Amino acid sequence: MKVLGIETSCDETGVAIFDSATRSVVHAVHSQVDLHRAYGGVVPELASRDHIRRVLPLIEDVLARAGLSRLDIDAIAVTAGPGLIGALLVGCSIGSALGYALGKPVIGVHHLEGHLLSPLLAHPAPQFPFVALLVSGGHTQLLQVERIGSYRLLGETLDDAAGEAFDKAAQLLGLGYPGGPALSRLAQFGTPGAVPLPRPMIHRGDLDFSFSGLKTAVLTAVRRATNLCDQVRADIALGFVEAVVDVLTVKSLKALQQCGHTRLVVSGGVSANQQLRERLTSEAARIGAEVFFPPPDLCTDNGAMIALAGWAGLERGAVADPLAPIEVRPRWPLESIGSAAGAKTASR
Ligand code: KG4
Ligand code: ZN
Repeated sequence: MKVLGIETSCDETGVAIFDSATRSVVHAVHSQVDLHRAYGGVVPELASRDHIRRVLPLIEDVLARAGLSRLDIDAIAVTAGPGLIGALLVGCSIGSALGYALGKPVIGVHHLEGHLLSPLLAHPAPQFPFVALLVSGGHTQLLQVERIGSYRLLGETLDDAAGEAFDKAAQLLGLGYPGGPALSRLAQFGTPGAVPLPRPMIHRGDLDFSFSGLKTAVLTAVRRATNLCDQVRADIALGFVEAVVDVLTVKSLKALQQCGHTRLVVSGGVSANQQLRERLTSEAARIGAEVFFPPPDLCTDNGAMIALAGWAGLERGAVADPLAPIEVRPRWPLESIGSAAGAKTASR
């Protein structure tokens, strides 16, 4: 089955074709970073308008690169939430219109389910069950995943998401928006241990996180510095990365032990972080566990993960009537789509 995936929940227009026979993807992403940079964050109305401009040319692009025509598409998957309502409506309207015109099923996908399943597009792909660590710009969650569609929330951030903390810390260090990747690069020049920062909630028995205090700690370190030279900025950046990576690692290992699982699957924009990848891989190996990540180009928002999750939904028998409207859900708890009752209720 060839599924067209469309992702427009925030500031990236992502389009892909997922071929279930070969488990391969052809994808294209247009990032709106340049559009929003001057504002220091995403401007929802600008995001919606840009998605409208980009999505059809991107669909033509991936079809051409996959050597397919529109008529070869078997189903269409679109992100239905959570996200910015105007931005979601663009993808859902275009997906629905295409489905109607082609007479093909259209399925609304949960953005976080897309992230969560994206490591299945890597080689080797993880087997079920596993613990998922989802670290994006909007979410930080640990989930117990028994199978596709069974998502039990184990813990989540009580305030800022990990990616959001990266972006805010980067801004304090003058690295612009969004600063996650730039901050990670700067941290490579830092001296380990030079700027020790707190590890919020690391010793609490639960699997929740808190990152807003860490941002304040970065602000304090910046203010205290008598000379904010490149080396000091790199030391603060490394201090921040070490603290975030430490907390994420300790809680992920705790989740593995609590669930009795030996596979950890990491996804979301922050899963691109090299320091996090190295630390999780080495610490998991020490307890006999394996760690899986998405392919590097599929960590941040993309259409491939949406096409994959849509295909998985159709395989599970999801109804995808081309004439039924897709319900757009700006707020949508992930575990409400699965059969397992969550231990907690995720918020967004
Ligand atoms: O998953 P994503 O594309 O969007 C959401 O669904 O939120 O994640 C974007 C987030 C941003 O906060 C960005 O700074 C962060 O992922 N990010 C990184 C890295 N690459 C992206 N954070 C740390 N290190 C990276 N290499
Ligand atoms: Zn995302």
